[in-house]
Amino acid sequence: MADGAELFRDDAFAGRNVLVAGGSSGINLAIGQRFAGMGATVSLVSRSRDRIEAAARSIVDAGGEAIGLVADVRDFAAVERAFQQAADRFGAIDVVISGAAGNFLAPAVALSANAFRTVIEIDLIGTFNVLRASFEHLRKPGASLISITAGQARRPLMFQAHASAAKAGINNLTETLAMEWGPAGVRVNAISPGPIGDTEGMARLAPSAAVTAALKSRIPLRDYGTKRDIADAALFLASDHARYITGAILEVDGGSILGDASADALTVPERPR
Ligand code: HXC
Ligand code: NAP
Repeated sequence: MADGAELFRDDAFAGRNVLVAGGSSGINLAIGQRFAGMGATVSLVSRSRDRIEAAARSIVDAGGEAIGLVADVRDFAAVERAFQQAADRFGAIDVVISGAAGNFLAPAVALSANAFRTVIEIDLIGTFNVLRASFEHLRKPGASLISITAGQARRPLMFQAHASAAKAGINNLTETLAMEWGPAGVRVNAISPGPIGDTEGMARLAPSAAVTAALKSRIPLRDYGTKRDIADAALFLASDHARYITGAILEVDGGSILGDASADALTVPERPR
């Protein structure tokens, strides 16, 4: 493909309605902005009225159509209300991104029961609440649901007991709902970002230049990804080009899931004579 060329037409999602849970910043907002740039209407949902309204404004100011809705994904009734508001405004929902998350680095012995529960409630129960509340409002057949998971769901990471367990649950939920909702014509997939630059997540997990350099040296593709990389994967999964894909956990991670690819990860033995 030529540099900068677009795989999708800029009206590829015209007439489609997208809802992004956890859409006030970072990767999720970038996904919403990308869909809006392709003609979709976008309903962004998060806890903070100021942040979510600013996020929606960023889309409107760029010429797109968006609203900001307030709901804490831990509160099922609030999530139901947000879907109702989005559907009242735009009609049936075609694409749902479930990306609300909370995370911090902490060894398990430093986690209170409430700290562990908080992350499970935001990430895993929040994802159930979002996907479950979406069902009545989806365009069926044809809707595409995408959860945002993480590599530590499959490859445990120290000081991430809470987030790893929550994301592992999201992977299984994705696969189970793909089986249950496939017959209704609803596809359910997940995107598993690797380390993504310029995000709150990596600011928390790799807070110094030294840690960042060490992490990059272990990634097969030797760099962090971009928010755009994740948004592009979401466009693909939501498009008709992915019409036969459901239950997939799509790693968009430069190969990180495969393991430590640093040059000194293994000492190459002398070739025996
Ligand atoms: C230990 C901590 C802690 C920390 C909070 N807690 N931070 N424990 N180490 N650093 C504990 C608190 O003491 C409390 O337990 C419990 O967690 C709940 O904290 P609250 O502040 O009351 O919770 P709440 O206001 O709901 O905030 C949730 C939050 C917060 C997760 C703690 O950080 C948040 O809102 N985060 C959203 C933004 C975010 O995290 N973005 C990054 C997502 S990135 P006690 O027992 O004291 O009551 C991501 C990356 C994935 O997910 C993978 C990358 C590779
Ligand atoms: P972020 O900017 O902090 O995004 C998290 C979003 O979740 C915010 O919009 C936040 O909005 C919202 N949120 C948090 N708790 C919520 C709640 N209880 N109810 C509703 N909304 C809530 O972080 P990010 O780094 O871009 O991460 C986005 C997603 O990618 C997450 O699912 C994360 O696990 C995943 N991920 C990120 C990376 C990375 O490298 N950054 C890697 C792997 C996976 P409010 O504060 O306004 O509520």
